[in-house]
Amino acid sequence: MQAAKHEHWSSGFTFLLAAVGSAVGLGNIWRFPYVVAENGGGAFVLIYLAIVVIIGIPLLMSELMIGRSSQKPPLAAMQSFGGSKAQKLWNAVGWSYLLVPMGILTFYSVVAGWTLDYALGMGIGTFNNLEDGASASMFQELLASPVKLIFWMTLSIGITVGIVARGLKSGLEQTVKILMPALFVILVILVLYASITGDFARSFAFMFEPDFSKITPELVLMAAGQAFFSLSLGSGAIMVYGSYLTRDISIPKMAVGVAFADTGVALLAGFAIFPIVFAFGVDHASGPGLVFVTLPIVFNDMGGIGQIFGVLFFMLLAFAAITSTISLLEPMVAQLSEEGRFKRARAAVYCGAVLWTVGVFVALSNNILKDVHPLGFLPLFEGKTIEGVIEFLSANVFMLLNGLLVSIFVGWSVKRSVTLEEMGLGDSMLFKIWFLLVRFVVPLGVGFIFYDVVL
Ligand code: PHE
Repeated sequence: MQAAKHEHWSSGFTFLLAAVGSAVGLGNIWRFPYVVAENGGGAFVLIYLAIVVIIGIPLLMSELMIGRSSQKPPLAAMQSFGGSKAQKLWNAVGWSYLLVPMGILTFYSVVAGWTLDYALGMGIGTFNNLEDGASASMFQELLASPVKLIFWMTLSIGITVGIVARGLKSGLEQTVKILMPALFVILVILVLYASITGDFARSFAFMFEPDFSKITPELVLMAAGQAFFSLSLGSGAIMVYGSYLTRDISIPKMAVGVAFADTGVALLAGFAIFPIVFAFGVDHASGPGLVFVTLPIVFNDMGGIGQIFGVLFFMLLAFAAITSTISLLEPMVAQLSEEGRFKRARAAVYCGAVLWTVGVFVALSNNILKDVHPLGFLPLFEGKTIEGVIEFLSANVFMLLNGLLVSIFVGWSVKRSVTLEEMGLGDSMLFKIWFLLVRFVVPLGVGFIFYDVVL
């Protein structure tokens, strides 16, 4: 059988929709607000923004470049540069760019499942007339139910496999063309509503007035992890999307566009959530439960209109999740179908089956298997459930390690003539700044952060 043909985005704009779709996800709307709240607001936001500019944008450019230059999925891409003494290492990085997104998908699908459960629940009125404390116990009930968690996870993996199986143009492009504008409209409605009825001034101060005494090494670490996750770095998604870019498109412009939109949505999500949270006087630093426990209380207090906003909000989360899960599945499926002997649809289904199997264990680590601590004998993994181990390894350790190694690869191993051509900036000041960041600042910065997380 002949290997599948390598497709291309219809335009630079569809690429942007897809790449922003990948970047904008649960990381922005669910995670960003509660991490900001837990880390004291403005100081965290400031450091986060700095990391996006200094590390995020240069790495986005590097990953897009590897994809576009090779026109191949991640592993084949890393192999295709060849000729380096460290080629074995670069091949291993290629593998890691396939496996990390699969790891992320196992727990991301479970959380995406929560959003589906909540969208439905809001729609049918499960959260109407909540009594005190009921919201927290409803969230706990969901986590305690293996059947519900597995059902919703299965659905979210099924949707993802269905879209990716159809290929770039009829699957991914069509999906992002519908979901991204919808997502944007819903977000704007929610922000407008929240800033009119809620405490906008306090939210603004909370997010943008940094208390410099709060800046600690831990805060920098949290901000870096959040930035990598939110920008979809170190995980194959950006690299594989880059491989579908045609030559006429400017990589620096696209990278800046993705970073800008992703950061904008994270901040907007803050402005959709904090004003109402502050106005209703609920605890804003309530951790991962912030949107699942706190917001239903708020929507409930608003009366009838709250139910509509509730449905909209959780649909927004679900849409954002789906445009991210497809980008997490794409690297492996593209690799198997373009470089292996599998038809795309078959590759997608096989990957889905593997994900589902691991996903069951991840889902169960919220309940039946919550006392199972694999690798618990190692200090680094102490107390971590199956989900905790997979999340820590994929989203913390290997994502950062991938970013670190790719910056070294692009800065030191890839021929300068190739990077010069791909960036399309000529030998300008901008190119030199980027090159300097990729060669020195990114590896040292990420290396330092990595050292802190793992060692
Ligand atoms: N960026 C996505 C989010 O913020 C998650 C993601 C990570 C997607 C890595 C693709 C690759 O939710």
